[in-house]
Amino acid sequence: MDGNGRWAKQRHRPRSFGHRAGQKAVRSTIESCVKRGIDVLTLFAFSSENWQRPKAEVGALMELFLKALDREVDELHGYGVRIRFIGELSAFAPALHERMQRAMDKTQANGKLALNIALNYGGRWDIANAAKEVTLAIQRGELSAEAIDERSIAPFFCLADLPPVDLFIRTGGERRISNFLLWQLAYSELHFSDVLWPDYDEACLARALEDFAQRERRFGKI
Ligand code: IPE
Ligand code: MG
Repeated sequence: MDGNGRWAKQRHRPRSFGHRAGQKAVRSTIESCVKRGIDVLTLFAFSSENWQRPKAEVGALMELFLKALDREVDELHGYGVRIRFIGELSAFAPALHERMQRAMDKTQANGKLALNIALNYGGRWDIANAAKEVTLAIQRGELSAEAIDERSIAPFFCLADLPPVDLFIRTGGERRISNFLLWQLAYSELHFSDVLWPDYDEACLARALEDFAQRERRFGKI
């Protein structure tokens, strides 16, 4: 979800104004996914690199997350959405961390959309974390180093229990992955939109899905 800052700048407003506007696009995207019967949606909300932004902007984002959690969880629960946060969550303030845990616990049995929110997430962090977990499993005698292959380490990555990622969408005009899911995107289709995130709406999502439907997926075969 990229482009909040530029959207605000175009309107001569502070960046936090753009982040607030971006929340509406989050809501509409979640609703569109529920409506269309999409099984999984993973949103990149805050990367491990975003801590390097000015303190005031990081603070404003945290405040938005907290308020959104308080406001939206019950409604999402009503839709049957299962919420999960992925990333290094221990870095967040205890109050926020606790609320995230509560949202996950409350919605864990829901069977509609699996909504994953990546917070303090980085694709390289995910890989390093999997390496650590694999090592611990070896130390416990549950896995042997000689047996390591793609299949045996796959369960240690975030989202391993969900189907492979079909479609990656980046908004805001840049053509890069910026340390989002790396392992998981190996065979995903990539779609780039120039629309700034606060303007991303149902029609934009429909265009991305149409683009996806045109792709021929060969997975290395002919
Ligand atoms: C939102 O867009 C992404 C977040 C980190 C919340 P940006 O804040 O990166 O907006 P631009 O790229 O400066 O326009
Ligand atoms: Mg950006």
